[in-house]
Amino acid sequence: MKFFNREKEMEYILHILNREPDDIYFIYGPINSGKTALINEIINNRLNKDKYVVFYFDLREIFISKYDDFIEVLFEEYEYDKKPTEVIKSLIKDIPSLYGIPIPKNTLEEILKKKTTKNVFRYITNVLMDIKKEGKQSIIIIDELQKIGDLKLNGFLIYELFNYFVSLTKHKHLCHVFCLSSDSLFIERVYSEAMLYGRCKYILVDDFDKETAIKFMDFLSEEILNKKLSDNEKELIYSYVGGKPKDIKYVVEESSIRNLKEVLKEMLRDEIQKLKYFLEDVEEEDKELYNKVVDALRLFKEAYEVEDIKIPKKIREFLVKKNVLFLNPQKGILKPQSYLVWNAIKGLL
Ligand SMILES: Nc1ncnc2c1ncn2[C@@H]1O[C@H](COP(=O)(O)OP(=O)(O)OP(=O)(O)O)[C@@H](O)[C@H]1O
Ligand SMILES: [Mg+2]
Repeated sequence: MKFFNREKEMEYILHILNREPDDIYFIYGPINSGKTALINEIINNRLNKDKYVVFYFDLREIFISKYDDFIEVLFEEYEYDKKPTEVIKSLIKDIPSLYGIPIPKNTLEEILKKKTTKNVFRYITNVLMDIKKEGKQSIIIIDELQKIGDLKLNGFLIYELFNYFVSLTKHKHLCHVFCLSSDSLFIERVYSEAMLYGRCKYILVDDFDKETAIKFMDFLSEEILNKKLSDNEKELIYSYVGGKPKDIKYVVEESSIRNLKEVLKEMLRDEIQKLKYFLEDVEEEDKELYNKVVDALRLFKEAYEVEDIKIPKKIREFLVKKNVLFLNPQKGILKPQSYLVWNAIKGLL
C-alpha cells in the first residue's frame, strides 16, 4: 500500500532530525490514526540513509512482563569474536535501520545478571558514540512505549529510562528519541510529570480532517477500486467513519465487493453492540458509576469534542482507559476514539 499525505507531520519530524538532538518527542494520537505508518514511511522512504542510523523498537509485538524482557528487546546478540565497534561499523555501512543494538552474547549475559540499568545505558551510550564517530546521527524510536509503564526495577523502570533519554538528548545531544503511543492516560501522566518539564515535546498525529479524509478516499479508490467514488458516497463514508485512516481504508476495500451502505451500517452496528455490552458490564458492576458514565457520554450527543474538566477526573480516566474516549492532554480536550464510537454513542443514548 502506498502512503498518503501527512506531509506536514513528516516535514516537521525531518526538520527536527536535521537539528541537534535536544528534546524527547512524543508522537501521540487516537488508536489507528497512523502513527506507526507515519514513522515507518519516514524510516523507509524519507530519511537520508547516509546520514542516519535508526534503532526502531516495536513493543507491541513483544510480550514484556519483566525487566529482562525489555532489555532483551533492546539488543541483538552476536556470537562471533569481534569488537562491538567493528560490528557497528560494518552494520551501519549497509543497514540504516536496526531492530536491536548489537551486543556480544557474553556482554548481554553480564548486563542482565547485574540487574541495574547503569551498565545497560553505559553500553548503549558507547555504541551511540561509535556511530557519531562514523559521522552518522542515531535515532531511537520506541513504539507502544506505554507497555513498560508499570515495569519495576528499584522503582519504575520508565523513570530511569526517561532520565537516560534526557541525558542522551538535552545533555549529550547524542541521539534523537521518539516515543509513540495511543495511550493518552500514559501520555497525560508523562505530560504532568514535573521531571519532564522542558525536556520533552509532543507531536499529535490525529485522524484526518474532513478535507484530507475525502482526498484519502480519492487516493484509495484509485489504488484499490480503479474507479471514482461519487461526492455523495464520500460524504456518506465520512459521516460514518470520519477521518480515521484505518476505517476509511477498510470501507473502500470492502466496497469493492459489497454494497457501500451495508458495509457502513454493519460497522456501526458492531460499534453499537460493543458499547452496549460495555455499558451493561459497567451497570452490573456498579450502578452509580454507570449513571455517571452515561451522563458523561451524553455530553457527546451535542459535540464531538468536550473540554476535559467537564467530566469528573475518575470518570474521564475510566472512559479513556477503556478506549471509549481519547484525551488530548495538550489542549485539554476529550473526544470519542473514533467517529464510529461517536455515532454509536449518539445512536445508543
Ligand atoms: N497516511 C497513511 N497512508 C496510507 N495508509 C495509512 C496512513 N495512515 C494510516 N494508514 C492505514 O491505517 C492503518 C493503521 O495505522 P497505524 O497502525 O499506523 O495506526 P497507529 O496510530 O499506529 O495505531 P495504534 O494506535 O494502534 O498504534 C495502517 O495499517 C494503514 O493501513
Ligand atoms: Mg501504532
